[in-house]
This record gives sequence, structure tokens and C-alpha cells, in this order.
Amino acid sequence: MIIAIDGPAASGKSTVSKEIAKRLGYEYLDTGAMYRTVTWQAIQNKVDFSNEAALSVLARNVRISFKENCEDGKLKVRTYLDGINVTEEIRLPKVSNYVSLVAKVPGVRKALVETQRKLAVGKDVVVEGRDIGTCVFSDAKVKIFLNASGKERARRRCLELKNKGHEVSISSLEREIISRDTKDSTRKNSPLLKASDAHVIDTTQKSIEEVVEEILKIIEDKKIDE
Ligand code: DC
Repeated sequence: MIIAIDGPAASGKSTVSKEIAKRLGYEYLDTGAMYRTVTWQAIQNKVDFSNEAALSVLARNVRISFKENCEDGKLKVRTYLDGINVTEEIRLPKVSNYVSLVAKVPGVRKALVETQRKLAVGKDVVVEGRDIGTCVFSDAKVKIFLNASGKERARRRCLELKNKGHEVSISSLEREIISRDTKDSTRKNSPLLKASDAHVIDTTQKSIEEVVEEILKIIEDKKIDE
């Protein structure tokens, strides 16, 4: 069973998806981490972000892998590029600032979508991203679209960065998040979009546990229906 979880930046997708994967014993696939890893590699290789051909070659040849483990009852996932741990690097603000330029390139999307489908084939997986329910797994059994107000999403991202030792103002984060959402939602190729059959959950006023419970109930109901 594929559970597709889409939504804009910092809407709670990662936290909620990992918790659901852990509780169901499913695998977890963070497709945003894949676009971030290609962006990180492009920065390292000094690839011009307007050079779509070079970015597509990078995406076709990139060797991304993930390792999962449970720490303090939480699922932790590390991302590797060519066997090197880049989990922290791909979350740096400079990667967040450029990732939409990389994610809009058709050749990059084609390569990464192919990899995402291969990684999930024949498995029970919780997959999070922007186009999972509309494109990558348009026949996913359960589709969730998470959202939250811009202010709340900026507040959450600020806290997350602070815990990692980065001081960034909430207002600048809100601007970055809204600008990234606009780019992700208006690009030509598989934009961020709610699938017509997705369940929408606004997480602004909800705790992680409430959102997780709501999604588990949707999954349970789906299983009973079948
Ligand atoms: O979920 P995230 O913030 O780590 O994603 C980083 C970027 O990757 C996001 O701004 C858009 C892009 N992305 C995408 O285009 N398609 C996906 N399935 C996942 C992420």
C-alpha cells in the first residue's frame, strides 16, 4: 500500500509521515530530500541553476540512499550522496533557496520520479512530497494533503532550525516559505497540487498526535472498505 502525503513547505509532512511509517511498520520515502540532494550536489559542483541540461545529467547520475533507525521512539532518516552523509547539509537555507529552481526542471523530475517509483515498487511505503498523489503514485490507496497557515509554518521551521543551532527570523522564513510555495505551485511540470481524491487536513491548530490519529483512521477506514 502506498500512502501519499503532499503539502507545502513546513506543513508537517515529514514529522507526520515518519510517525505513520513507524506505527504501521511501513517504509518511508522523503522525495523532497532527493530534490534537495541534487541541489546540494549542484552547489558543490558549481553548476549554474539555469543550465537545465547539466542539472538533468546530475539527477540522472546522482546516487542517493537513505538509512533509517529508531532513536528515542522516533524514526530518524539519514540521507547519503555517494555514500556521504548529507542529512544536515541538504537542510541548509542555501539549499532551500535554490531547490525550487532544480525541482522545476523537467529532466530532473523525470529522473527522480523514475527512481521514486523504483524505490517503492512492491512495498508498503509512506511517501511524502508535492506531486505524489497527482503524479508519482496517482493510484495511491490513501492520499493526504497537509496544510497550515504561513505564519505557523514559519514558526515551526524557525524552531526546527533553532534546535540545530541556526538563528533565522520568523519573518524571513515566512517570506522564504511563501516564495518557495509560489514557485512550487506555479511551475509547469507537476506543480504542488491537491489531488482531487486527497483528504485535506489543516494542521495549523492541531498537534502532531491529532494529525497522526486522523490519518491512521483514514487508512483504517480504507482497509475496511476493501
Ligand atoms: O519537502 P521539502 O521542503 O524538503 O522539499 C524541497 C523542495 O523539493 C520543494 O520546495 C519542492 C521540491 N519537491 C518537489 O518538487 N516534488 C516533490 N515530490 C518533493 C519536493
